[in-house]
Amino acid sequence: MEADPPPHGVKLARRNTVLSVRHWTDTLFSFTTTRDASFRFKNGQFTMIGVAVDQRPLLRAYSVASTNYDENLEFLSIKVPDGPLTSRLQNLRVGDPIIVGKKATGTLVLDNLNAGRRLFLLGTGTGLAPFLSLIRDPEVYERFETVVLVHGCRQVAELAYGERIQRELPADEFIGEMISRQLIYYPTVTREPFRNRGRITDLFLSAQFFSDIGQPTFDAAGDKFMLCGSPQMLADFKPIFSRYGLREGNHGEAGDYLIEKAFVEK
Ligand code: A2P
Repeated sequence: MEADPPPHGVKLARRNTVLSVRHWTDTLFSFTTTRDASFRFKNGQFTMIGVAVDQRPLLRAYSVASTNYDENLEFLSIKVPDGPLTSRLQNLRVGDPIIVGKKATGTLVLDNLNAGRRLFLLGTGTGLAPFLSLIRDPEVYERFETVVLVHGCRQVAELAYGERIQRELPADEFIGEMISRQLIYYPTVTREPFRNRGRITDLFLSAQFFSDIGQPTFDAAGDKFMLCGSPQMLADFKPIFSRYGLREGNHGEAGDYLIEKAFVEK
């Protein structure tokens, strides 16, 4: 579907249309939009999205939660009551216009990672979004024997997409078989009872976590990582990685781990 022209002054974005909205909690929601035929991205990347306010674009970075082979786009967002953009986005309705950037970028792409045996995708809160895209990318399963997705949240209700990951994706016609065989999903909660408890950092250093997922413990040579979420979580992982001699990758230089902060509106 061809998008309308964007508001005055928006050269790097196009106007798209909201197709669906899902409110997970009073602080978390997701939505799908049309996708311009010319909008290309790599799974794991982010783009700028937003709305026009007084004829001017108000845009923020959002990871694309859908894959580059999906017809539409999907995004996951928190709701900040006074946030300039999210206070508006949370009121989106089906049919509303939404601005989507023409370009996508970001470090969480497969080409930035060294080859390995096992890939850990570690996300807190809306930091899950780029991994929702990556876990549906067949190349991920061609490059790694096992993919472990850990999603850490304060509350159970915030474990968005859990049902889809566990029930729908293994039955997916295109990617279901790879997901059933190679993906391990481990949701964890820190502030209320749940079958898995604790911060991702602590879990990673515990034998219990590896026993829960039925996997051998950390292997500095074969394990690669992508991290997205709370800046503090990212900061806490860095010394753990350096202790084992793992190197951070980015554009142009592949590494053993990649980091993207979640794009939280301040
Ligand atoms: P906690 O409840 O112990 O703070 P937030 O909602 O603040 O973005 O946090 C999302 C999840 O990330 C929560 O489960 C939170 O745990 C966890 N978290 C926050 N800081 C860290 C950290 N430094 N390392 C690992 N997990 C963290």
